[in-house]
Amino acid sequence: MSRGAFITFEGPDGSGKSTQIRQLESYLTEKGVDVFLTREPGGTEIGEKIRHLILDPANHEMDHLTEALLYAASRAQHVAQAIRPALEQGRTVICDRFMDSSIVYQGFGRRLGTQVRIVNEIAVAGLVPDLTFLLLVDPIEGKRRISDGFLDRLEREGMEYYQAVYDGYLQLAKECPSRIVVIDGASTIEEIQNKIRQCTDRFLLDRERRP
Ligand code: ADP
Ligand code: TYD
Repeated sequence: MSRGAFITFEGPDGSGKSTQIRQLESYLTEKGVDVFLTREPGGTEIGEKIRHLILDPANHEMDHLTEALLYAASRAQHVAQAIRPALEQGRTVICDRFMDSSIVYQGFGRRLGTQVRIVNEIAVAGLVPDLTFLLLVDPIEGKRRISDGFLDRLEREGMEYYQAVYDGYLQLAKECPSRIVVIDGASTIEEIQNKIRQCTDRFLLDRERRP
């Protein structure tokens, strides 16, 4: 059996990832695709405990390097226990955030730079997404969209951090143009979903045709 496809969604907080992922999952499932939906940080029992530790506003003393290592630890567990086994079973894995989030949030946002890549390369052990949708909304719009609910530790960060995250995503998209599809997150939910479906259909078809 051939390995399943690995699709990730990235973007600033409030860019619409969860909304789009839910709709893509229904679309693919109706077409008979075996989808495994997961998210980061989290995705496993241990990962969800790490997620709670990282996002808890009470942990305001957390050092930036500790934060980066915890994300990487959650990812290592996620890859080993959930993502890689699902791919090996031929399932299509859709993941809400993956390594790119660390490169951008910890590398650019927290200014930890290339050391974030190094620890994450260890964590993912060679696993790279086949296709990544990057939903981009400017930091002000992103913050506006999430400002109604409870804000976790990271969502309480200032505008400078959000701007660095936005700039980091732009730079990453330039570095990986064949993997990362950039989508204007300010379009309507329907317009965005149509584009995502078109790209996914084309990508899955190309994959099927490959010898
Ligand atoms: P994320 O998972 O990236 O944080 P969500 O999908 O949870 O984002 O969306 C954050 C908020 O923005 C939700 O209230 C959602 O209904 C709204 N939203 C999502 N996509 C759009 C869009 N294209 N235009 C306007 N609002 C949107
Ligand atoms: P979450 O509630 O999942 O946010 P969203 O709905 O926007 O995806 O919280 C995840 C937060 O963790 C979000 O602010 C992004 C951040 N994050 C990192 O800083 N580094 C990472 O490696 C990952 C996976 C997430």
